[in-house]
Amino acid sequence: MNKLPRYYEFFNHTKIISGYKALENIPYELELLRSFRPMIITDKGVKKAGLVNTVINACGDSDLVFPVVFDNVPQDSSTKVVSQAAKLYREKRCDSIIAIGGGSVIDTAKGTNILVSYNSDDLRKFMGADIIKRPLNPFIAIPTTAGTGSEVTIAAVIRDEEKGIKMPFTSKYLLPNVAVLDPRMTITLPPHISAATAMDALTHAIESYICLQKNPLSDAYATAAIRLISNYILKVIEKKPSKEARLAMANAATMAGIAFSNSMVGMVHSLGHALGGVARIPHGVAMNIFLPWGLKENFSVRKEIIGELLLPFSGAEKYSNTPPEKRATEFIREIRKLQDILYEKVKMPRTLQEADVDKELLPDIAKNAINDGSLIVNPIDLDYEDALRILKQAYFNSVEI
Ligand SMILES: [Fe+2]
Repeated sequence: MNKLPRYYEFFNHTKIISGYKALENIPYELELLRSFRPMIITDKGVKKAGLVNTVINACGDSDLVFPVVFDNVPQDSSTKVVSQAAKLYREKRCDSIIAIGGGSVIDTAKGTNILVSYNSDDLRKFMGADIIKRPLNPFIAIPTTAGTGSEVTIAAVIRDEEKGIKMPFTSKYLLPNVAVLDPRMTITLPPHISAATAMDALTHAIESYICLQKNPLSDAYATAAIRLISNYILKVIEKKPSKEARLAMANAATMAGIAFSNSMVGMVHSLGHALGGVARIPHGVAMNIFLPWGLKENFSVRKEIIGELLLPFSGAEKYSNTPPEKRATEFIREIRKLQDILYEKVKMPRTLQEADVDKELLPDIAKNAINDGSLIVNPIDLDYEDALRILKQAYFNSVEI
């Protein structure tokens, strides 16, 4: 039985608009925010895919003016890029921001909004938790990958180019005013990217549900997200996924984002951040590799809670036909089955070897993993030896149940 926490907080004030014609409502949403000159922040890939035009065309003959499209966002957002964007925002007298892209674009937009709202040139002053004390300028986020959940999280990570470190920012004021979920935004995603981003969203929901800071509201979002992902992940990696599947995955990623923004994640993310930093493995692929290991390692203290996830993931029939003491093991088995299907269909790596990770890097990955903030709320503690043992096992093998 899930115990109610003695105390918890839950926060999300982002208005979510979702639908096959959600983009068409952007002018109305901006009018409510008294904004008419939005700066568009995006990256070159999104622009080349025609998604910026899709958004501008959807705004039709409204009174909106788009003074500038800033498409210079790299894979990892940085202080230099944020400063460039803020300078353009001021030069072109913009009054709001529309971010069209994945996590890095949305984080760049969050950083830009800090600088332009505070009329500052120094992002470092705002680094850390709750340094931003007042509402920022109107900000709309349009995610183009159904994965990160950045459109509904209170955090941004931006690389300090001079010091070579990643700066974290957290504040409720970083939440966009509106997140727009429209299936036209994920139409160009290739199947292997759809699979990887879906596994990231699934990991957000699962880690949110089993971590130490879980609470009844984050649980509700997490289980709803797991149900949608389980129902639609194989549909969204088809050659021509339906609008329904793409919108369902966008909704799932947003719900998983709301869940983990209010509870945090765990060791799968610690290992994944370290693998990304040291071996440049894409985040979603890393999540896919480590998810079963996170479940297995936390099994001893979270067996009952992990077992509960069999219901949203596999449905009522499977859940009721599985004895309570076997549900956790069965859930891990079901995740493993999904991994095998994703490997067969889109070659999504299940092991570090399948991801071509250099074995020599494992000690560095282990070192970084145990210093990652996500570990704080993981149900069990990991030391260097534990992390290295898991990495060595995850090199050749999938979890054996
Ligand atoms: Fe993630």
